[in-house]
Amino acid sequence: MKNKTGKTHIIVVGNEKGGSGKSTSAMHIIISLLEREYRVAVIDLDSRQKSLARYIENRKSYADQHNLKLTMPEVHVPERAKDDTMEAMKHHDEVTFAALLDDLQNRSDYILIDCPGSDSHLSRLAHASADTLITPVNDSFVDIDLLARVNPDSYKVEKLSLYSEMVWEARKVRAMKDRGVIDWIVMRNRTSALDARNKRRVHEVLTSLQKRVAFRYIPGFGERVIYRELFPKGLTLVDFGTGSSEKMTMSHVAARQEIRRLMDELHLPGWNRAAVVAAE
Ligand SMILES: Nc1ncnc2c1ncn2[C@@H]1O[C@H](COP(=O)(O)OP(=O)(O)OP(=O)(O)O)[C@@H](O)[C@H]1O
Ligand SMILES: [Mg+2]
Repeated sequence: MKNKTGKTHIIVVGNEKGGSGKSTSAMHIIISLLEREYRVAVIDLDSRQKSLARYIENRKSYADQHNLKLTMPEVHVPERAKDDTMEAMKHHDEVTFAALLDDLQNRSDYILIDCPGSDSHLSRLAHASADTLITPVNDSFVDIDLLARVNPDSYKVEKLSLYSEMVWEARKVRAMKDRGVIDWIVMRNRTSALDARNKRRVHEVLTSLQKRVAFRYIPGFGERVIYRELFPKGLTLVDFGTGSSEKMTMSHVAARQEIRRLMDELHLPGWNRAAVVAAE
């Protein structure tokens, strides 16, 4: 394996806010990693919606139907525990999740875990095993509210809220388990050029919050129709111009640049070295 970095790196995409762009971002990160020939295993923890697993199934069908060679990760969707008591269910989740990670670590460079838009025990276990945690947030104070309470007049951060506290707990669990550190990245998603004032305010709040909560805040993706259109075909913008027959527009070029910038800013182990290898 030419890009093997040593230890398997676990990327978790999470946010308790539904619809913030977790699965879409996850899919673009997965295909970016596969493009550089990393071995990627995917765990979709949203066993109800299975959006990410379905996105990848669509990719397989589309590739088969059109005779395309598209990169494909291996995908796992752990079933929810059905034991009688809450304690038994938690125990079941812990045992099966640990066994799955153990198994995948033997044959993957990266494991990407997509979490549901709500709290669950499995999601907490995933957060506590993350090396990199990516939280997409939309440009709205409704999304920011899950990270911190903001003063309505001054827009100053008053206190941490639900999701930040959950990540705080996950960091403690992770530190006790193996002294590991979670690199938490908050990425803005669906930013629009139309609402400059709101955009600036969200930027200011996230800038002040990043010091307080210890995350890195990065720009992420703009609002683009194309992100919504790709799901049925299972394609990503990373595929454009390679195997697929999709035509590139200016908006697609800009979107591809956003994805490349995101990948660079994640600071994943071996990523820059892989760029050099790919260029050779
Ligand atoms: N940058 C973007 N521009 C336009 N549409 C987007 C963008 N990112 C995501 N979307 C759309 O927003 C919707 C929600 O995205 P997605 O399913 O990725 O969110 P999610 O956080 O995984 O949701 P859930 O919490 O339900 O799992 C989808 O219809 C998706 O196509
Ligand atoms: Mg999702």
